Formats: sequence, C-alpha cells, structure tokens
Amino acid sequence: MIEAGTTDSAVEVLFPPDVIAARIGELCQEIAAAGLRNPLVVPILTGSFVFSADLLRGLHAAGLTPEVDFLTLSSYRHTTRSAGSVDILRDMELDVADRDVLLVDDILDTGRTLAYAKDLVAARGARRLLTCVLLNKRVRRVVTIEADFIAFECPPVFVVGYGMDLANRYRELPFVGRVASD
Ligand code: IMP
Ligand code: MG
Repeated sequence: MIEAGTTDSAVEVLFPPDVIAARIGELCQEIAAAGLRNPLVVPILTGSFVFSADLLRGLHAAGLTPEVDFLTLSSYRHTTRSAGSVDILRDMELDVADRDVLLVDDILDTGRTLAYAKDLVAARGARRLLTCVLLNKRVRRVVTIEADFIAFECPPVFVVGYGMDLANRYRELPFVGRVASD
C-alpha cells in the first residue's frame, strides 16, 4: 500500500493506524500486569510523543493512573545515521528517586538512547525501571539492551510518521511508514 505523501516523496505504509491502535491496547494490558506502583511514565522526546499520547490513554483504559514527565535527548539531527553520543536537550522536572518509572521511546535502534536514559534514571534512584518501545530494530544494536515492552519488530529501514521524523518532516502521518526513496 502506497500513501501519497503531503510532501514531495511518497511514503510506504508499514504499520497502519488500526494495527498500531490494536497493538497498543494489548501492550497496555501487559504493562498493567507488571504491577507498577504509582507509575511515572517518561516519554523520550521528540519522536515518542504520538506513541506516548496513545499509550497513556491506553494505560488509563487498562486502569492505571500514571504521572508523566518528559526527557528530551538528542538523536539523529538531520541525518539517518546515529551520531554515536547522546546529550540531554531538556531534563525531566520530577524526582524519580524511589519511583516506578516506565521509559517510553519510539525506536530501539543502536540502543544508545535508551541505554543512556536507563542509566540516568537508575543513577537518580528509581525503585523500578521498565522500558517500552513502539519499534524494535534488533539487527542494528551496538549496545546490549532489550526493552521490556515492544509493540512491533521493525525491518532495518529508516521509518517515519506517528511522531517520527526525517529532518523534522513526516511526524504528522497517522501511520508508520518508509520513505520511498530510502
Ligand atoms: P538509538 O540510540 O540508535 O537506539 O536510536 C534511537 C533513536 O533514534 C530513536 O529514539 C529515534 O528518535 C531515532 N531513530 C532511530 N531509527 C529511526 C528511524 O528509522 N526513523 C526515525 N528515527 C529513528
Ligand atoms: Mg527518539
């Protein structure tokens, strides 16, 4: 299925909206079953903002009452190749000491971003620390890390949409897709 892009390139749909929504419902049941105590959900911005918004409403439907705080980390910066180092662009506001924390990211790719976030929150004294990603690109890993909750396994291509960008474009697409020129 090819969806005409709003911009110059067509984007091939990999994960359509209804498939994403159904999987998030299942994922929230799995997360609810983990028994987090007064959970603090921490979306890693920017790419996870759409996923996190749907995830949070799914967690509500699953009976959870999470708090939310955001952590903005650097990632690709206008290129499809990982920069190799991670920086904090904007830190969280809440204290994570003795909290049950669920870190949320869009893609687990090389693993550097999620590993950095995990180390940071662990060093600040979280009581329990779980991770949740929309997409797992297993073959590209350079850091040994697995997410506790994964919505989908992802082919090793650059994906956009549903919050994810290529040089700040395509975040608004309601599906996850692949830029045809990739
Ligand atoms: P990692 O540190 O290499 O695991 O990269 C994770 C971050 O890189 C994700 O949070 C995304 O922001 C970004 N990223 C990795 N792969 C893609 C992609 O295919 N499309 C858009 N962003 C990506
Ligand atoms: Mg990201």
